[in-house]
Amino acid sequence: MIDVPHALATAQAEANGEAGRAFIAALPTLAAHFLERWNLTVDGTPMHGRCALVLPVTSTMDGTCAALKLQLLDEESTGEPVALRIWAGERAVRLLRHDGPTGTLLLERLDPARMLTHVPDPHEAVLVIARLLADLTAVPTPAGMRRLGDIAARMLERAPQALARVEDPAARRPLADCAAALREVVDEPGDRLLHWDLHDGNVLAADRAPWLAIDPKPLAGDPGFDLWPALANRFDAADVRWRFDAMTDVLSLDRARARAWTLARILQNALWDIENGDRPTAQHLEIARRLTEGRT
Ligand SMILES: Nc1ncnc2c1ncn2[C@@H]1O[C@H](COP(=O)(O)OP(=O)(O)O)[C@@H](O)[C@H]1O
Ligand SMILES: [Mg+2]
Repeated sequence: MIDVPHALATAQAEANGEAGRAFIAALPTLAAHFLERWNLTVDGTPMHGRCALVLPVTSTMDGTCAALKLQLLDEESTGEPVALRIWAGERAVRLLRHDGPTGTLLLERLDPARMLTHVPDPHEAVLVIARLLADLTAVPTPAGMRRLGDIAARMLERAPQALARVEDPAARRPLADCAAALREVVDEPGDRLLHWDLHDGNVLAADRAPWLAIDPKPLAGDPGFDLWPALANRFDAADVRWRFDAMTDVLSLDRARARAWTLARILQNALWDIENGDRPTAQHLEIARRLTEGRT
């Protein structure tokens, strides 16, 4: 029987309420089911993020090392196998098997002890992410994927009401700038395959490649919408501009457009904060300020 890590149970209850609690309650049975169905034995300590339980496993058929990823099927996780199949191991983890109805994935085993988070130089880490993104987002997206155009249009509909709830003008102003920037580009949302969540905890090493992406929450859109995680992880206000300039260079992005989509990404986060009854996260607002400084 699998022990579900407490932190995962808490994160799921917080993020998904009743559905999250039901997913956690069913996890041991779900894990047992796939271990048997796909002929796997657990050979290490369970791992997790905020969404998934990941079991290191070995195939009893051929001894292959793999990782069994169990997660709640929702609009974000539905696209994960689709994107991994398109990337086919190029700059991303390989998908070995997939169960559509539950969203369960069997992944190539990477080395969780070598995570990009552990690379001490933040600039080196940002460049690794930028190089991965340059290749990952070079691919056009198949029909049926979630589209940034739809998401962005809905954000602009939600923004007026949400911003009205922000009492502090020092917080409201950068968010109004974000909404204005998004309005400029919303009609050209792009069609590349985006990862959406490429922070340095979602980059692992393997023997076949120095760094590979895991855990995409993919959508079709402009690569500028993919820069934010590397600006926010290991947050350092004084480094925001360096990172943004370095990433736009590596990805050969138009800076004005990439800035607009990064501001849109900050608006996306702020809308979640505000609609949850929280204040917009100060670090995110600071990123918006740093990117708009001297440009109005
Ligand atoms: N293919 C893999 N090989 C080895 N470890 C993995 C693999 N995929 C995920 N992990 C480990 O499991 C953790 C959670 O997986 P992840 O896909 O990032 O889920 P979450 O959506 O919960 O963040 C990762 O941080 C990593 O430590
Ligand atoms: Mg993750």
